[in-house]
Amino acid sequence: MVRIIGFLVGLGFVGVLVISLFTDLSGYFNEPPQESAEYKYHLEPKEVDFSSDGPFGRFDDAQLQRGYQVYREVCAACHGLQYVAFRNLEEIGYTPEQVKSLAANEWEVPTIDPELGEETTRAAIPSDTFPNPYPNAIAARAANNNAYPPDLSLIVKAREGGAPYIYSLLTGYQEPSKKLLAEFPSAAPGTGLYHNPYFANLNIAMPPPITSDGQVTYGEGAPEATVEQMAKDVTAFLIWTAEPRMESRKRAGIAILIFLSIATLLAFLAYRNVWAEAKRQVAPKGPLDPENMAKREQAKAEAAEEGRGVEG
Ligand code: HEC
Repeated sequence: MVRIIGFLVGLGFVGVLVISLFTDLSGYFNEPPQESAEYKYHLEPKEVDFSSDGPFGRFDDAQLQRGYQVYREVCAACHGLQYVAFRNLEEIGYTPEQVKSLAANEWEVPTIDPELGEETTRAAIPSDTFPNPYPNAIAARAANNNAYPPDLSLIVKAREGGAPYIYSLLTGYQEPSKKLLAEFPSAAPGTGLYHNPYFANLNIAMPPPITSDGQVTYGEGAPEATVEQMAKDVTAFLIWTAEPRMESRKRAGIAILIFLSIATLLAFLAYRNVWAEAKRQVAPKGPLDPENMAKREQAKAEAAEEGRGVEG
């Protein structure tokens, strides 16, 4: 009895599967899936080189300092860098005094007034981390068309495409093409959205942050502050914030490769040494030489014939 019930229940399951297979297949053929605007018009990141690329890549401190300047003057209005402290800027070539004065003069961090207990701000010190421009996520969304400007400390690691994606996003704002709008009228950017084919859904809530050449005034000896140059510099800065230890990681990797190749050579030589006895083509000399042995046998036989004993 139990068996029959079990069999019927199993049959019921199989029946449901067969029915759903048929409805899905007929749905697929009656209404084939439509190509989406994201699928057709999303672009892969542009090709762009950074000095930190490759196994021997190094950071270019002058570029990182320019990138910091772009971050401070442009991006910091909306994005924080919560995992970077001001004193970390010493790693990109600022002296401790410069960091101190830069933190104190250029940044304010939230604090509590010691007398009134109210929220207020104070000048930053080197051990502070870069502050978030908004007190909380609700305020951030309220100011940005309900989109949250993410913290940028790790953004290069957090996005598929890494640094080239960030660079492409910053330089990729454009009007939606006529072809796109004709094909997908609903892909037109809504209010507060901007068309950017490098962003996954083509419309991003971040207004174009870098819009004109010379928007940031670079110091003496710096390359011209074109939109591309500023985007590249700030991206290089974000590569550094995401992995400040990159140079030592690469150096350690190369040292380990050199060590391993020497160790491999030593292991090979040790192997040759250990197996030398066993693998050598034995060419006996002296009394064991077959030629000498034959001679000796002959001498023995001759001696026996002559009736005198020979030792050995
Ligand atoms: C006016 C405010 C504002 C400024 C200035 C700004 N951003 Fe944004 N940013 C945003 C908002 C809002 C989002 C979220 C967009 C969304 O999710 O649609 C965002 C998202 C991003 C993202 C994430 C994109 C993704 O793939 O999710 C990156 C990277 C970024 N911004 C980099 C920058 C950089 C670099 C600068 C400075 C050059 C900058 N932003 C300046 C508001 C801003």
